[in-house]
Amino acid sequence: MVSVLLIGILTRFTDLLLLLVRPRLLRPYGSLWREEFRHTPYRARRTFEVIRALNASGQRFRELIYGETPLLTAILAFRRAGVGRGSRLVDLGAGRGRVLLAARWLGAEARGIELIADHVTRVEAPLARVGARLQVGDATQADLEDPTHVFTNWLALEPETKARLIERFRTCRPGTRFITVTRPIEAPDFVRHSRRWMLFTWGIESVWIHEYQPTEPPPGVRRPA
Ligand SMILES: C[S@@+](CC[C@H](N)C(=O)[O-])C[C@H]1O[C@@H](n2cnc3c(N)ncnc32)[C@H](O)[C@@H]1O
Repeated sequence: MVSVLLIGILTRFTDLLLLLVRPRLLRPYGSLWREEFRHTPYRARRTFEVIRALNASGQRFRELIYGETPLLTAILAFRRAGVGRGSRLVDLGAGRGRVLLAARWLGAEARGIELIADHVTRVEAPLARVGARLQVGDATQADLEDPTHVFTNWLALEPETKARLIERFRTCRPGTRFITVTRPIEAPDFVRHSRRWMLFTWGIESVWIHEYQPTEPPPGVRRPA
């Protein structure tokens, strides 16, 4: 508990230092932080809305365990994966959208998909003002034809949910890069580039970068003779 508190203080401090370089992002960051005090995202409640969302996605309550990626961690991982101006990043399981601010910090387009509507409604407006879109939805059904980079902090997902998510990843364009936290994508066609230990709000975790290189051409595209 003490270590989580210390990590919290340290990462808030580094977040704020980074935001001094991009003062436009300070306001939405402040809104995210204020909402965390008003209603913590770290204690999921079995509300009617939460149970309905879980029933629809076929997931369990324990898959909603919450944790965030500090800005410095996200920026370093994204840079390593080649995120920059002209990139389009999607965060699958975006929580309250802290990661989207890291993508905007790098000049990329940022979109987040989050299952729990309460997370989204609390912060979508301040995020939208700096061009970051946070939407309610099931990541396993997300439209992934457009992104150049996909991030997922899937530490709490059950193997069945991960498997459905990986099937969805296959709807991405070849060359799309994937940044995953805790575990790599264990499936053919996702070529691993690197693994790094990085700091998260709950401790140190592995961050994996992969590239989607399908061996079979996408449906409708013929292999050259
Ligand atoms: C560990 S948090 C990560 C938050 C954020 N991506 C970050 O790294 O700062 C995981 C989030 O995924 C959400 N989630 C779980 N299953 C989901 C699904 N099928 N579709 C969208 N979001 C989901 C949870 O509600 C939770 O907010």
